[in-house]
Amino acid sequence: MKIGIAADHGGFTLKQEIRDMLEGNDISVTDFGADELDSSDDYPDLVAPLARAVSAGLIDRGIAVCGSGVGASVVANKFPGVRAALITETYSARQGVEHDNMNLMCLGGRVIGPELARELVLAFVKAQYTGEARHRRRLQKVEKIEARMFK
Ligand code: RB5
Repeated sequence: MKIGIAADHGGFTLKQEIRDMLEGNDISVTDFGADELDSSDDYPDLVAPLARAVSAGLIDRGIAVCGSGVGASVVANKFPGVRAALITETYSARQGVEHDNMNLMCLGGRVIGPELARELVLAFVKAQYTGEARHRRRLQKVEKIEARMFK
């Protein structure tokens, strides 16, 4: 599984910690930046390249971190095929993948600490979409809406 990560200044420290944690668990990760802490950077500039890569199928699962996680989720969901959500607890980190095929998890670097982030990230990357009929039906409805948005 190809995993990508991105953060603005509000999520930079947590991004570095998540990247180190994933690599420590032998999970390789593509880092879309920021490469350094820059308090004047803007989350759309960092999150869009990651979301574009997920949309293009170059990355299977993305993790985007900004201060609250809100801006990151707003940007990420502008890209077709990206199913992004702001996650703060483990149930949704797992169930969001199993039911909704969430492929980009957004976190608030100013909201959660590194230990909770570690649990959320591991739950997210280990979870698999079940593909059960009711979930497929719901996703098809989402895709119909998306097809109208992006045509
Ligand atoms: C940056 O200061 C902050 O506004 C941004 O990281 C994020 O919280 C937006 O949702």
